[in-house]
Amino acid sequence: MGEPEIRRRREDDLSACVEALATVHEVDRYPAEWPADPGRWLTPDGVLGAWVAMSGPDVLGHVALTRTDHVLAAEAGLPPEGVASVARLFATASARRRGVARVLLDTAMAAAAAEGLRLVLEVEDGGKAAIALYERKGWRHAGSRPGDWTTADGRTALLHTYVAPAAGTR
Ligand SMILES: CC(C)(COP(=O)(O)OP(=O)(O)OC[C@H]1O[C@@H](n2cnc3c(N)ncnc32)[C@H](O)[C@@H]1OP(=O)(O)O)[C@@H](O)C(=O)NCCC(=O)NCCS
Repeated sequence: MGEPEIRRRREDDLSACVEALATVHEVDRYPAEWPADPGRWLTPDGVLGAWVAMSGPDVLGHVALTRTDHVLAAEAGLPPEGVASVARLFATASARRRGVARVLLDTAMAAAAAEGLRLVLEVEDGGKAAIALYERKGWRHAGSRPGDWTTADGRTALLHTYVAPAAGTR
């Protein structure tokens, strides 16, 4: 497989993104519950942009940027108007450990930096690969709180807040 092409998600990419997401749900239970409308789930309220990693017609990965709610901004210790959130980040199971998520995250971070926004995100405790990725990229753990759902392995969800390094420090 060559280098994936990273580009903005188009409307007509959505069904391929949903197919890719289904493989991630199967393997990782991400999302924990399969949504009634997965295309809508990939386009959350307050979405600022979404990008895909493509290999020909195949979606290898996906990321979105959204506005940040007050709770998450407060958890991150940052003013809500100065932050955006990373959401809906995944790489398909067959495309793992090839830097797909890293380049998607870089793309989201560059887009946020261009708007003068700092990035934050929440990750559930079971997302060990994602946590390793964020820590490798220099994101800082800012706090943790219980979520309002039960994970596939029967735990109360535990959400960790991470804050991206400030632009220019990466
Ligand atoms: C987390 C996820 C997006 C990583 O995707 P990926 O394309 O395989 O990640 P990359 O290849 O870009 O990895 C970059 C770095 O992150 C870290 N990393 C990624 N996956 C890892 C794993 N399984 N174990 C340990 N470290 C890992 C490594 O430091 C890696 O660099 P290296 O391969 O040079 O060691 C992918 O595993 C996934 O889709 N998981 C399910 C969905 C999910 O949890 N999304 C995040 C929700 S917050």
